[in-house]
Amino acid sequence: MVDAVEQMSRAELEQLQLTRLRDTLRRAYERVPFYRRAFDATATRPEQCQALADLARFPFTTKADLRENHPFGMLAVPESEVRRVHASSGTTGTPTVVGYTRGDLDTWAEVVARSLRAAGVRPGDKVHVAYGYGLFTGGLGAHYGAERLGCTVIPASGGMTARQVRLIQDLRPEVIMVTPSYMLTLLDEFERQGVDPRSTSLRTGIFGAEPWTEGMRREIEERFALDAVDIYGLSEIIGPGVAQECAEAKGSLHIWEDHFYPEVVDPVTGEVLPEGERGELVLTSLTKEAMPVVRYRTRDLTRLLPGTTARVFRRMERITGRSDDLIIVRGVNLFPGQVEEIVLRVPDVAPHFRLRLTREGRMDHLTVRAEARPGADPGQRAEAAREIARRVKDGIGVTVAVEIVDPGTLERSTGKLGRVVDERAPKP
Ligand code: DLL
Repeated sequence: MVDAVEQMSRAELEQLQLTRLRDTLRRAYERVPFYRRAFDATATRPEQCQALADLARFPFTTKADLRENHPFGMLAVPESEVRRVHASSGTTGTPTVVGYTRGDLDTWAEVVARSLRAAGVRPGDKVHVAYGYGLFTGGLGAHYGAERLGCTVIPASGGMTARQVRLIQDLRPEVIMVTPSYMLTLLDEFERQGVDPRSTSLRTGIFGAEPWTEGMRREIEERFALDAVDIYGLSEIIGPGVAQECAEAKGSLHIWEDHFYPEVVDPVTGEVLPEGERGELVLTSLTKEAMPVVRYRTRDLTRLLPGTTARVFRRMERITGRSDDLIIVRGVNLFPGQVEEIVLRVPDVAPHFRLRLTREGRMDHLTVRAEARPGADPGQRAEAAREIARRVKDGIGVTVAVEIVDPGTLERSTGKLGRVVDERAPKP
């Protein structure tokens, strides 16, 4: 099921995008001192945007820019018109506060409703929302989108895991929206309570807010007997609902391009890359009122793919990692997701792992700590550790130490999970 807008022609869509883009640039320039200074400094004017490709001449906006203008310096409307604020989930430094007008909340509910529909959710379905409610955009974003589609929402929020399991059994939702790592925490709890996770009413899981892999999809789909799809978004742009994987064609996410204009750039030079090439996703809001964002550097790495016959909107590949999460060990680049793929392929090892970085002298060391699956033969652990180390060496090219620890050793996620523990002292 698709919206009419999803089936317009590419030319119609681009015309709509250009009109909205020019309006966004004009409002940003006229109403936000930060943009006026940035455009003036690069000798760009909103009128110079005559075609979508002209956007490449405009300056980028970064997280540091939002921080410097904390809390309300990026607003393009009077503060009294802001109906809600959220904040990005960054754990260090000044939080990034974002504001929404009534119109923005409406747009947000619409794009999340569209995401849910693409995921196979239908009016009348019950949706269990286990993303955190609060300043994080996951809970309330999912909530209003599901209501907009005509679903019954169960606003569970994150945490109180035993109660979540009870709610799922009693209320029998068809859909769950949650981070993939917290879904694994729920899985443990189902098993602890002696309930077969495959026996639940859940049919669709909509997972996002952190990177996850095809291996994790397999694990969740098999253990829960549901369809697992990917939802992407970030608070700076709106929250969840920027892009969505559809149930019928898994493997990439449609970007809701009538509201968010995507570019992929070389993370080092900032040059716009052609469709299909991997780089950093840069997003420009096309309809945001309270806080229009021009060329926001997401730090998320992906590539753009063309639309499909069902939907005109271009797609992006699942996020393979954030440039911030890149680990460099003795000159070799690696993302936690690459290790996740390997860990999930080794029998008797659970999908719970951490990466511990230490430094001895001038050398960096990476240790993979992964849990044994409950009930697995402890005599096989040494072999599993060797197998992980061998696959990391062959596949990624770096030598790592591997420890297989007892089931239940590693701390479980309640929302977004950090996989990397960096214990390196500053370089001597
Ligand atoms: O995480 C919004 C969200 C909530 C998306 C619920 C999906 C579901 P922030 O807290 O601002 O917003 O964090 C945004 O999370 O730049 C990515 O690095 C990461 N991220 C979000 N979705 C995905 C995903 C929300 N599907 C940051 N795959 C983004 C990989 C994701 N990374």
